[in-house]
Amino acid sequence: MNINYTNLAENSRNNIGNHELALAVLEGLSGKPKKLNSSFFYDQKGSDLFQQITELDEYYLTGCEFNILTKEKENIAKKLAKDPFNLIELGSGDGRKTFVLLDEFINQTLDFKYIPIDISKDAMETLFSKLKNNYDENLIVEGLVGDYFDGIRTLVKQTKRKNFVLFLGSSIGNFNHAEAEKFLRQLWYVLNPGDYVLIGFDLKKDLNILHSAYNDTKGVTSEFNLNLLSRLNETLDADFDRSSFMHQGVYNVQLGAMESYIISTKKQAVKIGDLDKEFTFKPWEGIHTEYSYKYTQSEIEMLAKDTGYTVINHLFDSKRYFIDSVWEVCKND
Ligand code: AVI
Repeated sequence: MNINYTNLAENSRNNIGNHELALAVLEGLSGKPKKLNSSFFYDQKGSDLFQQITELDEYYLTGCEFNILTKEKENIAKKLAKDPFNLIELGSGDGRKTFVLLDEFINQTLDFKYIPIDISKDAMETLFSKLKNNYDENLIVEGLVGDYFDGIRTLVKQTKRKNFVLFLGSSIGNFNHAEAEKFLRQLWYVLNPGDYVLIGFDLKKDLNILHSAYNDTKGVTSEFNLNLLSRLNETLDADFDRSSFMHQGVYNVQLGAMESYIISTKKQAVKIGDLDKEFTFKPWEGIHTEYSYKYTQSEIEMLAKDTGYTVINHLFDSKRYFIDSVWEVCKND
């Protein structure tokens, strides 16, 4: 297999630096309400736990998107067959869903290169070992380790190929609306007119289904959320007693988002050695750790229009729980 990756950032991070984490924790736990950003979930343990979440029936999102890509792979391939193209994936993921498209594109002998882009070198190496186990020389992979937009900018300068960008898994849901718009405009800016993006959006639905997805019965989501406390204990010399904190996923009706909290079950003080500081918790006080925004079809359409794209197609799973929305980049009109 023709496979390699380029490290765009000289001092590329395997993981977020401790200094950056310490400052974010200082800011987040000093605020009212207390909060920590969900990007801190993904150390090695957190990434493994997220992988386990995606295998739970209650966390329907992954299965739905797998279903969409399996149903639609032929149509997607047909649409892309005319010209050579780059299949760019933002966040290399675990490959499972993308492999559905790779297999189809290879079977139909499309002229394409697969360009996974990820800020984490570790994530890229994990993906590469899976690719090596599953593909032969028919697949060309040119990974980029670094910032998504630096990656695309570098690529677009080097090639005249059409670009087809995947942003799967409802990752856009972890941004609030202002952040989602900013992200989409940055993407628009670095792409060429006529390029396509396919973005996974989780739809608003029965709240019981949402609640179960973020409060699964095996407790994997709880473990995933509370792992953040273990990470702070290990990397910042904190002394969180995990048994006196609990996970809760709740739906915020006004925001249209599931929110995750780590809740202190009693009055307590926690010392963070690296900050040389103690943080106090009232009984049942929460740390906000994640937003997972849910969308309606018309909210998705509005978002596309406001950020410079034309909606080509909404691809639904058979339960109509999830949309992979395909947009074209429009410029000069
Ligand atoms: C990665 N992200 C799209 C997941 C979500 O649904 O917001 C992370 C997750 N949080 C709890 N379960 C899964």
